Amino acid sequence: MEPINIYSGSEVISRIYVEEGIETLEGYLEGYQHVFVVMDGEVAMKCPVAYEVSQMLNRRGVPGMLVEATEEAKCMDTVMNICGWLLDNGADRDALVLAIGGGITTDMVGFASSIYKRGVRFAHMPTTLLSQVDAAIGGKTGVNFGGYKNMLGTIRQPEFTFICPQVLESLPMEAFQAGAAEMLKTFMIEDNGHYHAAVDFLKRLTADFIAVCEDDSTLSYQEDKWPEVLAARLHELTPLIAAAVRVKAGIVSRDQFENGERRKLNLGHTFAHAIESLSHKYHNDIDHGHAVALGMVYAARLAERLELAEPGLAAAIERDLDESLLLIINPYPLERMAGAMRKDKKAADGKVHFVLPRSIGDVTVQDLTVDEAIGLLS
Ligand code: GLY
Repeated sequence: MEPINIYSGSEVISRIYVEEGIETLEGYLEGYQHVFVVMDGEVAMKCPVAYEVSQMLNRRGVPGMLVEATEEAKCMDTVMNICGWLLDNGADRDALVLAIGGGITTDMVGFASSIYKRGVRFAHMPTTLLSQVDAAIGGKTGVNFGGYKNMLGTIRQPEFTFICPQVLESLPMEAFQAGAAEMLKTFMIEDNGHYHAAVDFLKRLTADFIAVCEDDSTLSYQEDKWPEVLAARLHELTPLIAAAVRVKAGIVSRDQFENGERRKLNLGHTFAHAIESLSHKYHNDIDHGHAVALGMVYAARLAERLELAEPGLAAAIERDLDESLLLIINPYPLERMAGAMRKDKKAADGKVHFVLPRSIGDVTVQDLTVDEAIGLLS
């Protein structure tokens, strides 16, 4: 597949390769003399495709480091460990640091690479759907700090991002759903017919999964069956991943440093962050994907109340998410969410940039206070 490019003006500043297999990765590393690989330790153990890549890198004599990729470990200590390891292994200004893992890994490795010796080149091989369609695209790097997510970081583009959907075969169902929600979010921002194609794909996957679970007559979801269900339909997912990457690459090319259009990528995230922080506080364990899915429904409801969207949009989105197994019941009342939203780092002058869908494929940004938004939704 032709690379999908990110531009600054007419200059290509990052390339994204979406490939069916891993064989071509070695070729993309050819031009780089000194490659270093930093990999999520869990991925190294649990993802056979990533293991194959690490074997190839071993054969090439590429030094490797494993990191813990959790929200707790996504901090300056880990970044300093990566920098220390690069120093100990003689990484110089001509180094290329390859990150293999999900968004936490690519964020940390991108950040370490952007400060080590005032910046060395880096590349990503994202191993989750979420990082393939979102986190590893567009050059946002960073770590959590002071109790806030991604409070320290840079925007610096990877040399390239190598996306191989085959790695998703070992991805747990919950992590897949997080990525699926971000993929639908992307198509709600810019559609080109992909939103409904993605929903149809997710419905087929859901139907397959339910059929496999029913076969076992236990009448409960058996998440260990998920990988085989996904593997059978992975070829249908590849063009959807490429389409989502194309949308994001276009937005980043037009607004790399998030002064305007890039904010649209936060669709559903103001509500989602509030749900996630409450879930963290009350140990309810709501993952990012389900929080984003709920967040998109709230955003659509708000758009309807502001008469930006036709009545019925929120209900239609809700139905699509439900049939894609992405919808849960939100245990938090709006007033509780308001408290968490006021603390969101994106609140400036008391106003929050709410990204609101006018229709599928068309969103707008409205600055509202949290009280205005909650008042309209109540
Ligand atoms: N994940 C949102 C962005 O990259 O801008």
